[in-house]
This record gives sequence, C-alpha cells and structure tokens, in this order.
Amino acid sequence: MEIVIAQDAAAGARAVADEFEQVLRAGDGAVLGLATGSSPVAAYAELIRRHREEGLSFAGARAFLLDEYVGLPADHPQSYHRFIREQLVDHVDLDSSTVISPDGAAADPAEEAERYDAAIAAAGGVDLQILGIGVNGHIAFNEPGSSLASRTRVVALTRSTIEANARFFDRAEDVPRHALSQGLGTIREARRIVLTATGEQKAAAVAQLVEGAVSARWPATVLQLHPHVTVVVDEAAASRLELAEDYRAAR
Ligand code: F6R
Repeated sequence: MEIVIAQDAAAGARAVADEFEQVLRAGDGAVLGLATGSSPVAAYAELIRRHREEGLSFAGARAFLLDEYVGLPADHPQSYHRFIREQLVDHVDLDSSTVISPDGAAADPAEEAERYDAAIAAAGGVDLQILGIGVNGHIAFNEPGSSLASRTRVVALTRSTIEANARFFDRAEDVPRHALSQGLGTIREARRIVLTATGEQKAAAVAQLVEGAVSARWPATVLQLHPHVTVVVDEAAASRLELAEDYRAAR
C-alpha cells in the first residue's frame, strides 16, 4: 500500500484527483468506480475544478457505483444514483447514461446483484476505484463478517452504519435497512484503488486497514492483498498509525 498523509483536506483531495487524472489521461474509455458518502466529495470538487479550469475531460469514460440502498428509486433525493450526479456527473463531461448503479428498486434485488457484477465484467472491469471507509472498517456496505470473496449482493446494514448515515435523512427510521453492495471480491478486481479518509473518527479503522491483520472483522483489510492501493488520509485519520513516520519518510 502507498500511504499518503496529507497536510490538509485540500492536499488530500488533490492526491485523490491525481489518481483519476492519470487514468483519464491514459486513454479513452476509462472505467471508473465511484463511491458516495462524504469522503470523496472534496476530491470530486477538485476534479470538477480541473475539468472547468484545466480541460480535464471525462468524455468516453464510464462509471459504476459501489452501492445503492434497497427500496429507494433512482430519483429519490437520498439515492446514491442521485448523489453522484449532484456531486460529480452533472458538472463534468461524463455521459450520465454511462454512470451505472445497482437498481435499488429492482423487483428481484438478488437477480439485480448478479446482473450488476456481470455488467462490470462486460465493461472490462474497473480501472480505478475510489473508496471511503466506515468507522467499523466497512468498504462499500461490506460490514464486519463479510466474506473476503463476496460478490455484489443484498446486505443488511449494521446499527452503526444506519446511525452514521442518519445524518443524510430527516429521521433515523427513514434510513433503509438493506443495500445492494459490490462485494469485497468484486472490489478487489479493480485494477487500481484509492481509499480516502479524514477525521479522528476514522483513525481506528485506518489503523486496522493499514496495520491490522487481514480479517472479516475489519473488511477493508482485504485491500492489503491488492497490489495497487493508495490510502490518502489527513493527520487526524492517520493518528493511530504506529508507523506513520515510516510512511512519511517513504514518500
Ligand atoms: C459509499 C460507501 C460507504 C462509505 C463509508 C464512509 O458509497 O460505500 O462505504 O464510503 O460509509 O462514509 P463517509 O464518507 O460518509 O464517511
């Protein structure tokens, strides 16, 4: 893993945007893996700025979202389908019809999960996947106990995730209890991964991700088995890393 301890939020956002820029400039038809939640928003804003001011183009790229709430139609204000359009897609030259998310309103969510994995494979796989991390170490909605080989599937959200996500809804009772989520095995197939985290509340999960044993207890630790992962954190999220000085020195 490459560990980037950014001096401030803007530097972290630039480091994440650099990864996207490399993939987008490498050639036509990049397949991006996009995350929602608050962690990637600053990087998305930086990408929008580069698009507007520096001519960074998303033309020809396609994208797959990590996950979607079960029971929310695509146009629901809290759906991830809508979130990614508001935070990124509507502001760059990425064709919205090529930005795919699991259909949370599908009549048969299990069938939808299988279809989704097949669609990613048919697109040739993901070139660059951006990830956040939950305070309990989840990536996408792979909660503790998820199989490290799991595929896209219907998952039940844990109480801690429901509480964490309640801030986006009027009432905690409105947070859906299930999601369609790419599996850990699916995510691992991305050719390149950048995970970003900020704030003290993520410090324990980041310490496990980088320095813990690979275990379903902390699902993000599966990324230790991937050959091309960059972890971009701020000082607060890095505060429990035992070897922070070594990571700084290595850069
Ligand atoms: C979002 C996702 C989640 C979040 C995680 C962190 O698509 O899959 O795993 O990345 O819950 O959320 P934030 O960034 O809001 O702290």
